[in-house]
Amino acid sequence: MSKKFTVAVVGSGLIGQAWALVFARAGCEVRMWDGNPSALKPAREMVATLAQELQQCGLVEDAEVLMSHVQVCEVLADALANVDYVQESVPEVLAVKQALYAQLDTLTPEQAVIGSSTSSIPASAFTENLKHRQRCLVAHPVNPPYLVPVVEICGAPWTSQEAVQSCIDLMHRVKQKPVHVRRELEGFILNRLQGALLREAFRLVEQGYVDVDGLDVTIREGLGLRWSFMGPFETIDLNAPGGLADYCHRYGDMYQSIAQEQVSTAPWSEQLIEEIHSARRTMLPTESLGDRRNWRDRRLMALALHKKMLESQP
Ligand SMILES: NC(=O)c1ccc[n+]([C@@H]2O[C@H](COP(=O)([O-])OP(=O)(O)OC[C@H]3O[C@@H](n4cnc5c(N)ncnc54)[C@H](O)[C@@H]3O)[C@@H](O)[C@H]2O)c1
Repeated sequence: MSKKFTVAVVGSGLIGQAWALVFARAGCEVRMWDGNPSALKPAREMVATLAQELQQCGLVEDAEVLMSHVQVCEVLADALANVDYVQESVPEVLAVKQALYAQLDTLTPEQAVIGSSTSSIPASAFTENLKHRQRCLVAHPVNPPYLVPVVEICGAPWTSQEAVQSCIDLMHRVKQKPVHVRRELEGFILNRLQGALLREAFRLVEQGYVDVDGLDVTIREGLGLRWSFMGPFETIDLNAPGGLADYCHRYGDMYQSIAQEQVSTAPWSEQLIEEIHSARRTMLPTESLGDRRNWRDRRLMALALHKKMLESQP
């Protein structure tokens, strides 16, 4: 980055810490703030621990240099003074976001864009009455954003094109992969796709077509292998000699027929949840969940490293 681009990370819990790492890794100056001042020191320590882990696996060159870009601020106004961008990551509670944005509206420099990490609340729900609402939008990460780079960028109806473009450009500069969601909708894109897949997965197990492990194997050893480097449209484009249209003409009737059976909107029953939960607990006891999460993060690190190496090849 040519100038000392400064980012305020507002809310320093799980996602705020991860964002601090993303921005500092790219050389931005990062100021962390939190509604609970006593959370700040441990939050910065956690960023340092994560930076060390990434250094050990080759995803960060120098964790100490990275951490020299990260400071904590106990006063919100100090964190926001002269910043170029704000990444808000306070709890997923509308009233909390609304109260905070009233402060951000007056304390944030006028030219700075404010992105919210919200997983589900549209920006219009907490920015409507702000004086500078045109610079507010959603920048929804996937946990943890320093290993999973996609970020969904979604403005409210009044968000300016300049704010959207500025956030997209920033995300590219800090090595994230922004996706512009053109209109507000619940769940944005990623969680709607995940929701569609989960709905069918629960249905197939409920109706006894496959067991819980068989379903996971189908994704892990099947569809999921390609998904780490290509999406569903590119997948089908390559699966028929004439490309996507050829695929649709060959298999469209089958998918149309299947779709007739995929119309239920019934909630997952408690019995079904219990059945799938106990199948998972047989494979992985509750006390092993933490270890398995650490294992997942190690696998993600290895995959991120692999993808980084591929991107650096001509
Ligand atoms: N956890 C995830 O997997 C995930 C993924 C993507 C997006 N998000 C979104 O990120 C946001 C933050 O989630 P998280 O998982 O980091 O939550 P978290 O509970 O880990 O962190 C929230 C932080 O906000 C602070 N806080 C609480 N009330 C506050 C207030 N009134 N004002 C200021 N700070 C306050 C807390 O002290 C805490 O440090 C949410 O909007 C969530 O939907 C979470």
